[in-house]
Amino acid sequence: MAIKEQIQELKRTLDVSIVAHYYQKDEVFEMADFTGDSLQLAQWAAKDPKANLIFCGVGFMGQSVKILAPQKRLLMPRIACCAMARMIDVTYYDRALEVLKEAGIEAHDVMPVTYINSSAEVKARIGQMGGMVCTSSNAKAIITRALESGKKILFVPDKCLGQNIAREMGLVAKVVGKDEGLKEADILCYDGFCSVHQLFEVEDVAFYRAKYPDIKIVTHPECKPEVCEASDFVGSTAQMIAYINALPLDQPVAVGTEYNLVNRLRKEHTYVLSSTKPECPTMNETTLGDLHACLVSLKNQTYMNEIRVDEQTRKWAKVALDRMFSL
Ligand code: 13P
Ligand code: SF4
Repeated sequence: MAIKEQIQELKRTLDVSIVAHYYQKDEVFEMADFTGDSLQLAQWAAKDPKANLIFCGVGFMGQSVKILAPQKRLLMPRIACCAMARMIDVTYYDRALEVLKEAGIEAHDVMPVTYINSSAEVKARIGQMGGMVCTSSNAKAIITRALESGKKILFVPDKCLGQNIAREMGLVAKVVGKDEGLKEADILCYDGFCSVHQLFEVEDVAFYRAKYPDIKIVTHPECKPEVCEASDFVGSTAQMIAYINALPLDQPVAVGTEYNLVNRLRKEHTYVLSSTKPECPTMNETTLGDLHACLVSLKNQTYMNEIRVDEQTRKWAKVALDRMFSL
């Protein structure tokens, strides 16, 4: 039996669901019961009635489901860690607070918000400090609500998402440890970024606009602020797909996000907004062979790459996630 059929057969006999993020390789993506952006995957997976879940994505995504649904057995074919999420840990977070203190901004003057692309430990620290989580699809709404505290926002780890939301809302964003005048900022951004989305440049936008004057430029908010500003639409992976699917089929579109998503979109009139192939190395680690091995381990009760989060961390990380869901 071919590996795909073996996977389908194992799925039929086991009490398991498979979820996959849009950046997964096509052959893995096709095996999933549910696909979506980070927010959709966390919400769907936590509600799914099956006792076991196999998560094809990156580490923080699997952890988020375990935080929300601890009763589930959660396996990942690969424990691939998002490079941006790795840019911050609790020590770095505390160091950022020290830099703010030196600039005359105390910890109680800031409302921390973490992008979901962060570890369970960072989410827990932010939960303990009264803060919350956001995703690329709800960042504007979460920042709007967080600002009601009357405090400055400390936004971690993605400076681009923080800067893009600030621009959209007419607010001032500054990068902690880099920019002067932190006291003037509404949003204080940690200096993290996604190296995949850094590949897209305003020159790429200019190139496509010159070549196809009626083209739509669609980007993810992890792209640089000047690239998002020059775009026709900026949104989460699911929001970009919905926007593009609503366009006429002959409408040219250039997309600034991970290659697997763009390649799967439409056959024609669709371009990657870069001359370099924008592949997320960690998302691309998961193979069909890994997924198969993961299902076999579930069958044999050896549980490959089981995700666990210690109870104290889970409790506080859930507080930060629940604050997002309650909004
Ligand atoms: P989405 O939440 O938009 O799916 O983004 C996740 C991500 O890691 C983008 O690089
Ligand atoms: Fe992380 Fe960037 Fe990969 Fe998204 S594309 S999972 S932010 S490294």
